[in-house]
Amino acid sequence: MDAVRGVISVAKVKVSDVLAMKGRGERITMVTAYDYPSALHADKSGIDMILVGDSLGMVVLGYENPIPVTVDDIIHHTRPVARGAGRPLIVGDMPFMSYHVSVEDAIRNAGRIIKEGGADAVKLEGGREVAPKVRALVDVGIPVQAHIGLMPQRASVTGRFNVQGTTAEAGLEIVRDAEALEEAGAFSVVLEFVTAEVAEMITGRLSIPTIGIGSGPRCDGQVLVLHDLLGVYKKAPPFAKRYADLRTIILEALSSYCEEVRIGKYPDPEHTVNMEQGELRRLRDSLAEP
Ligand code: KIV
Repeated sequence: MDAVRGVISVAKVKVSDVLAMKGRGERITMVTAYDYPSALHADKSGIDMILVGDSLGMVVLGYENPIPVTVDDIIHHTRPVARGAGRPLIVGDMPFMSYHVSVEDAIRNAGRIIKEGGADAVKLEGGREVAPKVRALVDVGIPVQAHIGLMPQRASVTGRFNVQGTTAEAGLEIVRDAEALEEAGAFSVVLEFVTAEVAEMITGRLSIPTIGIGSGPRCDGQVLVLHDLLGVYKKAPPFAKRYADLRTIILEALSSYCEEVRIGKYPDPEHTVNMEQGELRRLRDSLAEP
């Protein structure tokens, strides 16, 4: 029995399993989740890793970007995910300003995401400049997934959600970042919206797995935002494949509900509970109703 998660009955995916999958050439699957039912479904589907991403700021909390997301938000959403998903490795995202000021901040906040949220690892955005923080977290026993390429927390500086690594110079910078993060002890690295060639080069050079999002087919694994994959959120990036159109299904269901309530079709006898006749008579008698 786990204090945060409840009962765990299946073999948990561990960091060592993810590393071994790269060694065996097995593709790694990852998806975001932010609540209990999504975590249950992701687990049942056989997903290897779940990311409680700061994308929750946009797809769940309705912000324009991930900047307002707090450590408390990540903890709040990681808890139900940890209760719902027994097998996948759960990665909690470190939000903007939760690791930028100091190594102490990074350790304190990552520790909270692990201890209070129930995550197995944390993810943080940044290249060579965050390597000392990655090292410090790994040294205290917190597994770290790195995230380079497009970094949504920095989009206010770069101002763009553009593909990364289109020139030789830019590609080299990303390769060097990936190598520094592996050297610092990261157990995997997310490559977001990086040209397929640069992603393939990094995948070939690192011994830790690359997890691509919009970075072509040659990464060791793939991650997608659940709401993009299911077609729930209003807009999705161009690289996100929509595997379902739940938005249409949800809208149809809600419209039918409204319509049936308005015309008195719902609740119908099947969804209504009646009193036993004798009890009804006694109630009427006590109220002196006819
Ligand atoms: O927050 C998130 O969902 C992410 C993925 C896009 C990798 O960082």
